[in-house]
Amino acid sequence: MSAVLSLDSVSVRRGRKMLLNNVSFTINDDERWVILGPNGAGKTTMLQIAAARLFPSSGTAQILDETLGAVDVFELRPRIGFCSNAIANHLPQRETALNAVVTAAYGVTGRWREEYEQLDERRAFQLLNDWGVGTVFDRPFGTLSEGERKRVQIARALMTDPELLLLDEPGAGLDLAGRESLVARTSELIAHEDAPATVLVTHHLEEIPPGFTHVLLLRDGEVVAQGPLQETLTSENLSRTFDMPLDLTERNGRYSAFMKH
Ligand SMILES: Nc1ncnc2c1ncn2[C@@H]1O[C@H](COP(=O)(O)OP(=O)(O)O)[C@@H](O)[C@H]1O
Ligand SMILES: [Mg+2]
Repeated sequence: MSAVLSLDSVSVRRGRKMLLNNVSFTINDDERWVILGPNGAGKTTMLQIAAARLFPSSGTAQILDETLGAVDVFELRPRIGFCSNAIANHLPQRETALNAVVTAAYGVTGRWREEYEQLDERRAFQLLNDWGVGTVFDRPFGTLSEGERKRVQIARALMTDPELLLLDEPGAGLDLAGRESLVARTSELIAHEDAPATVLVTHHLEEIPPGFTHVLLLRDGEVVAQGPLQETLTSENLSRTFDMPLDLTERNGRYSAFMKH
């Protein structure tokens, strides 16, 4: 067991606002974390630090045994799979789904070389198949449904065989069936022994895939609670996080919460 991500007293300040305030948090390689919190809590900010795309204003971030600020982020980033809307918005809409996945490997191979081309394409196609979107491989990314786009993005995040996988609201915008199949596939993925350490951000309890081991609850840039999911995800902690009296329900490893009456 070793730490893949360790934030030590991390704060992010923008003007007078503290996006993150003194956050400390460690993920070991066999753990799968959910970061839960209302809109504006700082979840995306935290994930951007974990993805080596944002530097803390103070405190230190250790990612995969490297210290952010003392390492070339362009060497670090291919070791991290990052699925977020911010990245999806940068994918060219006319690029095919297959290319959207293959291009994640460019950073690793450095430059386009003939012998990698076929291997990369085969791997990308396999990943699209694994995520149930093999049939749309030649469709322009911009023409895909929201659900298909999400799956392509996750395939892209997995293309470099990352040691750390970060998913920022992967279920956002999906319909019920889309959400359920995404939850099931994510659950399958993380069940593998050699799956990367994973962090999933959401504000919907229904989107927590069975098998996640830990939870961090975030509110106004501060940690409300963190620890093993079973003991940390409670009605009381949720109520503090979302500033509303909430009743938590668990059934077969799935969660939901409703306002307490
Ligand atoms: N550059 C910025 N300057 C000021 N406030 C910002 C900036 N970027 C984000 N914020 C604010 O920081 C808070 C946290 O943002 P974010 O990490 O995206 O939250 P979440 O992902 O939990 O919804 C939000 O209130 C957002 O409006
Ligand atoms: Mg966000």
